[in-house]
Amino acid sequence: MGMIDIHSHLLPGIDDGVKTEEEAEKLLLLYKNAGISRIVCTPHLANPYVKTHVLGIRDAYTWFKEAAVNYGIEAILGSELYIGLDESKFIPFLDKFLLVETSMLVEPLYLLDKIFALQLKGFSIIIAHIERFSWISVTSPTAKRMREMGVYFQVNIQGIEDGSAEPYIKKNWVDFIATDNHGISRRAPVNLDIFHKYPEIMVRSMKILNL
Ligand SMILES: [Fe+2]
Repeated sequence: MGMIDIHSHLLPGIDDGVKTEEEAEKLLLLYKNAGISRIVCTPHLANPYVKTHVLGIRDAYTWFKEAAVNYGIEAILGSELYIGLDESKFIPFLDKFLLVETSMLVEPLYLLDKIFALQLKGFSIIIAHIERFSWISVTSPTAKRMREMGVYFQVNIQGIEDGSAEPYIKKNWVDFIATDNHGISRRAPVNLDIFHKYPEIMVRSMKILNL
């Protein structure tokens, strides 16, 4: 079965992720060796804490997509949508999936309303690294409401390694495992082998994405 990483910052020089094409190529090799055949590039857009070179995305993606082919990997373009400030700029991946993040510390006002408005426009919502937000947990009413609304949850590989994603896995609320890969220069390399440890979650992911 093909595997996919739906959350990454691998476009060189675009956001706070990968800096250079050389770094991106090194990572592509790691993905290839880990047997991952699809990568969704999800640069931050309009995140108040990250400076994004928005006008460079098109060219960086064109380069990355061609580079990825040499590693037998299909690159897909999306974005990471920050809810709480300006929700008007985003790139859905595979036509309809929106990877969503928020403040780490505070639940944004009208979060569920904003999610619902996006769903009404036909988008499927995936909450990025749900285990990282201090305002939500498996016992929060907000988490329960999200599940009732058909919102998907993604956890980071790092969250699996440090145990913070465990409650979501136990509750069977994890739809996607992803890297949130920011490259080699900024963070330690991501352990891609973890993708292989949760085949049932990967099956679920592929079904959701219709891949
Ligand atoms: Fe991210």
